[in-house]
Order: sequence, then C-alpha cells, then structure tokens
Amino acid sequence: MAKLGVNVDHVATLRQARRAAYPDPVAAAKMALEEGVSCITVHLREDRRHIHDADVFAIRKLSGCRLNLEMSATDEIIDIALKVRPDQVTIVPERRQELTTEGGLDVAARPEFYRDLTKTFSAAGIALSFFVDPGQRQIDACAATQALAVEINTAAYSEAVSDKDVTKTLRDVQRTIHVARNLGLVVHAGHGLNYRNVTFIAAIEGLDELNIGHSIVAQSIYVGFSSAVASMKRLIESAAQNKRAVGGI
Ligand code: PXP
Repeated sequence: MAKLGVNVDHVATLRQARRAAYPDPVAAAKMALEEGVSCITVHLREDRRHIHDADVFAIRKLSGCRLNLEMSATDEIIDIALKVRPDQVTIVPERRQELTTEGGLDVAARPEFYRDLTKTFSAAGIALSFFVDPGQRQIDACAATQALAVEINTAAYSEAVSDKDVTKTLRDVQRTIHVARNLGLVVHAGHGLNYRNVTFIAAIEGLDELNIGHSIVAQSIYVGFSSAVASMKRLIESAAQNKRAVGGI
C-alpha cells in the first residue's frame, strides 16, 4: 500500500514571502510525523527560494523522521547532502526560472554520470531515487545505475483535463510502475497530486510512497496542517484498500 510522504517546501515559501521566521517548515514536519506519515521531503533548491540549509539540518534531527532530500546533481548540493545524510536523496532536474520542477530527469542521457552519483550516495549509506517521467526508457536507465528507487512524475496525470487524457496518463503511470517493479526498483510517485486526483494513483499496485506537498499546505490554510495531512493519509489508505481498478474510471 502506498504511504504518504509530506513535502514541506511550501511552508517555507510562505515564510520567505515576508522573509519572516514563520511559518516554520520544521514545526510542520514534526506535525506531519505525529500524523504517522512515512517520510518528510524537502527540496533544497540552488536558489534557496523556500527551504534553507538550516531547515534541512533541523528536520534531519527530528526524532523518527525518515528524510527524503530532493536535489539537483550539482557539486554544492551533493556536498551538503553528504553532510546532512538523509535517508534518501531524490535527484531532480532544476532550472532557475521554473515555478516548480518541470518534467523528469533524463537519466538515459548521462548513464555514467548517474551511475557514479548512485555509487557516491550508496557508499555514504544513502538511498538514491531518480525523478523521471513515465516510460520504459528512463526506467531501464535508472535500473542500470543500480539506484534503489524511482519517483514517477505524475504531473501529466495531474494536469489532464479530459477523461481520455486522464485515462491515458494514468495508464502510462501504471505501466511504468509495473516495469520499474519488475526491474526490482522501489517505486514512488508524485507531483501535482491533490485531494481530488490522488485516489486513482494511490489505488495502483506496487507503489511504495506518494510525495505530496502543495495541495496539503494549501488545504492547511482552511483546516490546519495536522488535519490536512491526516485527511490526505486517509484518502490514500482507503484508495489502496478499495483497490479501485485503473480501468474503471
Ligand atoms: N516530487 C517531486 C520530485 C517534486 O519535485 C515535487 C515538487 O517539489 C513533489 C513531488 C511534490 O509536488 P507537489 O508540491 O505538487 O505535491
């Protein structure tokens, strides 16, 4: 059954909107952990637009916290990651101008580079996951690096409007999960998932974890952070239990 990993980046976005000391992503991470989530995710971007180095080190120290550090594969951030020693790093592409991560990483384009990166983290006892778009080519490339995991980009599914596109993008994700599992990879998914669209993804067999951030932080404005986390967790759990078939939409 898919577990919920909570991304607290946008708690820091609100803080940075005023360069204030609050709201605190570390406090939010603690509240999410109290709701029984399986991991906390933060993306330490090169421009530090939301999460700062001190946030990452503080979240690392929270008791019972499995930390997933999202990051680009640049020397500066790799050095920080090796100091923080998160449980897992998720390698994402990063562009300064983007509002959020746009598209998955092209692991197939630089097989040796990503194999070496996987070796670097594995020598430090840190699991590595690559954030990739659905499709066989990238999954094959990820498996060849000996990475532990992949995170499948659900942006196309989240942005699909017509029933036809929703069905197609969901099938793409489902097939990719199947391919990745057959190659022995642990499979995560995320990006753009919210309270309306998470159910069909959560019902797919073979997923280990869903990483969700923006919709939970947005919902917390109305209902509070703990409650927003708890209701997303309940949705995921009930979707997995009901096992609504993907073909049934
Ligand atoms: N997974 C990855 C790799 C991401 O880059 C993001 C956005 O930071 C997420 C998951 C979470 O996406 P969202 O904030 O849309 O839930």
